[in-house]
Amino acid sequence: MLDVEDLHMIYSGGVHAVRGISFDVNQGESVAIIGSSGSGKSTVLRCINRLIEPTEGEIYLKGEQINTPHTDVNNLRSRIGMVFQSFELFAHLKVLDNVTLGLRHVRKMSKGEAQERAMSVLERVDMLDRIDAYPGNLSGGQKQRVAIARALAMRPEVLLFDEPTSALDPELIGSVLETIRGLADEGMTMLIVTHEIGFARDVADRVIYMDEGVVAEEGPSSIINNPKSERLKKFLSSLHEDEVPEHIHEELVDEDTGYGYVPDGKGAGPRVR
Ligand SMILES: Nc1ncnc2c1ncn2[C@@H]1O[C@H](COP(=O)(O)OP(=O)(O)O)[C@@H](O)[C@H]1O
Ligand SMILES: [Mg+2]
Repeated sequence: MLDVEDLHMIYSGGVHAVRGISFDVNQGESVAIIGSSGSGKSTVLRCINRLIEPTEGEIYLKGEQINTPHTDVNNLRSRIGMVFQSFELFAHLKVLDNVTLGLRHVRKMSKGEAQERAMSVLERVDMLDRIDAYPGNLSGGQKQRVAIARALAMRPEVLLFDEPTSALDPELIGSVLETIRGLADEGMTMLIVTHEIGFARDVADRVIYMDEGVVAEEGPSSIINNPKSERLKKFLSSLHEDEVPEHIHEELVDEDTGYGYVPDGKGAGPRVR
């Protein structure tokens, strides 16, 4: 469905952010990309959605190369939807108009048709009661659900998510993750960059772990519980305690003394319960 082959990205300042990445996402699959900040995750998504041009490499959607000078970028972005950490809604447009905009301008729908489609996707993300609100009057979770509705309205073949919950207050994260989980259950093809490791493990069919611009480990989501590479093991144990699989804690901390690796990046020391 979506094929990325030997992708490289060197930014103009010289940062070699992505160093030869290849992977594919099959129809109906949810693939999570995890990895520490700066490992190149967003860069990969931006290349796929043509927000930036990769220095090298090929990207295919259903067998058709999409990073060529001939690719119609607007059409491409309606086939590959993207949801950003920062929502990217138009502040001066009501919820309904944020969702109909692309339908009218890219899909060339009539106003009535666009509104009907928008209402159906807003219902799906449970935002039907706020169609006349401006983004400024919504919570972060509601804004993100509107952004998801806007992407869904285009009936994309693939949806990309770039840390969709990392700008949200903790109590608002759940509703957005539930929405994404619902899409996974319905068979939407998705590539999800997330630092919600528990969510990745539960919802994704496969996980790609990126480190310093390469895929350092890749496999079924069970690799989160059973990492093979030292790099993934180290990454998982550096996460917040709540997100680290239980048995990794058990390996890291001596039950009797309570001493071991404290998974807060501070190294060995007493475990704080
Ligand atoms: N527009 C840019 N110009 C120059 N360097 C950038 C730009 N965007 C990202 N980078 C650098 O590329 C590397 C990877 O960044 P990014 O893809 O955002 O990583 P991640 O999403 O995993 O945190 C980082 O070193 C970052 O500083
Ligand atoms: Mg990022």
